[in-house]
Amino acid sequence: MGARGTALITGASAGLGEAYSRALAARGYDLILVARRLDLLENLAAELRSRHGIEAEAFAADLTSEEELERVALRIEQADRLVILVNNAGCAVEGFFVDTDIERQMDVVRLHDLAGMRLARAALPQLIARGAGALIFVSSMGGLFPFPANVTYNASKAFLVSFAQSLALELWRTGVRVQALCPGLTHTSFHATMGVDVSQVPEGMWMSADEVVEESLQALEEGRHGRIVFIPGKRNRRLGWLLLLPRPAIFRAVAMLARILEKIVGSPSRD
Ligand SMILES: NC(=O)c1ccc[n+]([C@@H]2O[C@H](COP(=O)([O-])OP(=O)(O)OC[C@H]3O[C@@H](n4cnc5c(N)ncnc54)[C@H](OP(=O)(O)O)[C@@H]3O)[C@@H](O)[C@H]2O)c1
Repeated sequence: MGARGTALITGASAGLGEAYSRALAARGYDLILVARRLDLLENLAAELRSRHGIEAEAFAADLTSEEELERVALRIEQADRLVILVNNAGCAVEGFFVDTDIERQMDVVRLHDLAGMRLARAALPQLIARGAGALIFVSSMGGLFPFPANVTYNASKAFLVSFAQSLALELWRTGVRVQALCPGLTHTSFHATMGVDVSQVPEGMWMSADEVVEESLQALEEGRHGRIVFIPGKRNRRLGWLLLLPRPAIFRAVAMLARILEKIVGSPSRD
C-alpha cells in the first residue's frame, strides 16, 4: 500500500480526473479510479501501477444511477485508508433550458450534486476519525456567475461552492480540508463531448488540465485557510474581482453581456 493512503477520483478516465490521477500517483497515493469507460480506467491504472509502484484499481460506475452510486459509496466505506476524495466527474447540456431534454438536465444535477454529496458523506467518517485528509469538489467559474444557455450546469456548480463552504465550516477543527475548485476554460474533452465548437476561443484564455490540477493540489497542500473556493490561474483569478461587486451589479453586468450574445446565438424557441 502507498505510504500516503488512498485517493478516489471520479471522472478519472479523461481530462482533469486523469490529471488528478497522474499527479496523485506521482505523489505516492494509491488510487481508486471511477468513471463509466472501464477500458480507459484499466489502461490508466496499469500505467500508473508500473510507473509509480502504487496500487490502482479501476471501478466502473455511472454516477447518475442511484444503484451504481451506492456501489461507489460502499467501496469508499470499505477502503483501507482513504485520505482524498476528488468529486470531479462532470457533464453539461448545451442549449436553452426549455429546449433541452429534462432527463439530461437532471443527470447534470445527479452527477455533480447528488453524487458529490453522497460520496462525501461516505468518506467523511473515516477522514474525521483520522483527523486528516481532503475533499475536493470540482466546481467551475460558471458556478460563481449566473449565465444563460448553461443554466443547470451553472446552478449545479454553484451548489457545490455553497456546499463546500458550509461543510468546511462544520469541519473547521477536524483536520479535514475542503476545496471547491473553480476552473475556467481548460483543455479536456469536455466541450467536444458537449458538442460545442470552442476553436475560436483565444488560446490565452485556456489552461491545461495539468496546470489546473497542480495549482489545486498545491493550494490544498499549503493548507491556506480561507481558500475553500479556489480559482486556478492568475488570469482567471483576475476575473474573480468581479465577485467583490454586489450581487445585483453582477447580475446586471451578466445581463448586458447576455443581450449582446443573444444577437449571436439566438433565444429560446417559441414553438
Ligand atoms: N474543461 C473545462 O473547461 C472545465 C471548466 C470548469 C470546470 N470543469 C469541470 O471539470 C470536471 C472534469 O471535466 P473535464 O473538463 O475533465 O471533462 P472530460 O474530459 O469530459 O471528463 C469528464 C469525466 O467525467 C466522467 N463522467 C461523465 N459522466 C459520468 C457519469 N455519468 N458517471 C461517471 N463518470 C462520468 C467521464 O468519464 P466516462 O465518460 O468514462 O464516464 C470523464 O472521465 C467537470 O466536473 C467539469 O464540469 C471543466
